[in-house]
Amino acid sequence: MRSLLSDSMLSTLDRYKPNAAEDLFSDDVQQRLARWNRQRLAPRLPDRDRAKSIRDDAEMLQLQDRFIEALRREVAGRVADAPPDPRCFVSWFESLKDHGPGQNDPLFAWFEHEASLEEMRWYLRQEAAGEAGFDDLTAYTQVKMPERIKLELARNYWDEMGRGNAKAMHGPMLQRLVDALELAPAIENTVGESLALANGMTAMATCRDLAWHALGALGAIELTAPGRSAAVAAGLKRLGVTARDRLYFDLHAVLDVKHSAAWNAEALAPAVAEDPNRARAIAEGALMRLTCGARCFERYRRELW
Ligand SMILES: [Fe+2]
Ligand SMILES: [Fe+2]
Repeated sequence: MRSLLSDSMLSTLDRYKPNAAEDLFSDDVQQRLARWNRQRLAPRLPDRDRAKSIRDDAEMLQLQDRFIEALRREVAGRVADAPPDPRCFVSWFESLKDHGPGQNDPLFAWFEHEASLEEMRWYLRQEAAGEAGFDDLTAYTQVKMPERIKLELARNYWDEMGRGNAKAMHGPMLQRLVDALELAPAIENTVGESLALANGMTAMATCRDLAWHALGALGAIELTAPGRSAAVAAGLKRLGVTARDRLYFDLHAVLDVKHSAAWNAEALAPAVAEDPNRARAIAEGALMRLTCGARCFERYRRELW
């Protein structure tokens, strides 16, 4: 029977499981979404069969949508607390730093003081494979944004680009650590929770009806990264990783404090002032990102402890 089907029909049937209770957070679903994102976002020459690409994309977009809707349902209870007044909203948003999902996870004190180099390498491999690229997510998010918000995203993006200096670009900076520790990250060896974080961020940044969600999710990264980065940087130092190789984490422990303050004042507050309905979307995006993070920490603890 299989030999009668074309390759494209087979790949479609492989993906379509009408009666299976779909676990949208499974390693399998998230690896499929991650492979699709890697392939569809890569610059390339025209596809050989563009009609087929469109059909395949439509199917994967539906899978992505079911995943996003599941995440939205998961955070719905907490989203209702987000106030629509811009100043109150920013205070609420900043409180996620202490009280958001996954905050103060004991994993990071463990990385700082106890993890072995092998355990640290496992963690960094997961994180590197699940890295969606803050620079590209910001670039997607800023399209057609109001002027003041766009300028803040541009300033942040310029920092990601090392302000024009290749050696100071954040992506390659992380890559230097990946190379130094010989991590060889790969989708196939990465847990679904880590890929779900990247897939969720990519969905929010590339779907324009989730643009305000993306603004919130990226703001949540800036808000919560410094504490985690400082712990990982201290752990890497304890394990003898050189200052040059651990620069990505040393830098984000400090720089993202500034990025977060600027993002909240120049992107989130004006967005909500212009339309209070956006408060809910921004809050939802932030909580979706933090929930994905919390799921990662839980899985990492299961694997490492
Ligand atoms: Fe960065
Ligand atoms: Fe940043």
